Amino acid sequence: MMNALGQPGTVVVVGGTSEIARAILTRVLLSRPCDVVLAGRPGPRLDQAVRGLRALDARVQPVHVDATDVDHLVGALRAALVGREVDVALIAHGVLPDQDALERDPVAAGRLVTVNTAAAVAVGTLLAGLMRRQGHGVIVAMSSIAGVRPRASNYAYGATKAGLDSFFTGLGARLRGTGVHVVVVRPGFVRTRMTAGLDPAPFAVGSDDVARAVLAGLDRDVVWVPRALGPVMAVLRLAPRPLWRRLDQGPSQRLLRRTLAPWVTRPRRPQTSTRGGPR
Ligand SMILES: NC(=O)c1ccc[n+]([C@@H]2O[C@H](COP(=O)([O-])OP(=O)(O)OC[C@H]3O[C@@H](n4cnc5c(N)ncnc54)[C@H](OP(=O)(O)O)[C@@H]3O)[C@@H](O)[C@H]2O)c1
Repeated sequence: MMNALGQPGTVVVVGGTSEIARAILTRVLLSRPCDVVLAGRPGPRLDQAVRGLRALDARVQPVHVDATDVDHLVGALRAALVGREVDVALIAHGVLPDQDALERDPVAAGRLVTVNTAAAVAVGTLLAGLMRRQGHGVIVAMSSIAGVRPRASNYAYGATKAGLDSFFTGLGARLRGTGVHVVVVRPGFVRTRMTAGLDPAPFAVGSDDVARAVLAGLDRDVVWVPRALGPVMAVLRLAPRPLWRRLDQGPSQRLLRRTLAPWVTRPRRPQTSTRGGPR
């Protein structure tokens, strides 16, 4: 159960080795030790994540899952959650394959949708039911700016995030008044293992920036990281197609980054809540 300061007692994470998830968990644990159900693919990375969280005094229950197998994922998570109350669930697993490689591999393109969208939808449905029965909880779903308007350079990934985003936005509307809240997180480029080796896009942030924004925004419906991306994308999603296509190209990206850098890298002010304090 959340305490009076809105700090969770139990957190469930799918994508337990995600750098963004780990940054969020670290911040949660620095304020209060809690129970963590950590679902991820078995292996050294998951073992290391478990050790890291235990070092921060978390009581960690690892759950071995693979998001390519939705049946097993749901079964394993359901079994791990029997008799538990869940305060916060973070759906953070995902892959960003190379677009060119996907175009040569239809099976991989289909599998991408299974991992990024189908598995997230299945987990979201499971957790929404559980939280509805207990009468409280927050589901945090990691969407992406890429889901807002498809780009030629990563349209397959963007499509998976558009599906996820739409599902969790609708789920949030569906759950209004039940005590369960859904937060859709839309980061731009985050410097993590997922983007290693890629040219940083304009507005690039670190995983701790995402963690800070998510934890300050647990009472919001949508969290953009950085926040400035919300208004920028509100305009860019209406841009004529030829202009949008040009913005996806290297020189325009560099120009955009240079133009916006001074504006987005100025000192951060604390995010203020629109609905009165984090839960
Ligand atoms: N980095 C960005 O720029 C960015 C921007 C917007 C949104 N996002 C989203 O934020 C979330 C976290 O990303 P991140 O940057 O933290 O990336 P990350 O460190 O690469 O984490 C990705 C996570 O997904 C897990 N995963 C991949 N395939 C899986 C599978 N088949 N079954 C189970 N788990 C699987 C990985 O587990 P393994 O350790 O087993 O591989 C890892 O835990 C993702 O949903 C991503 O799409 C990221």
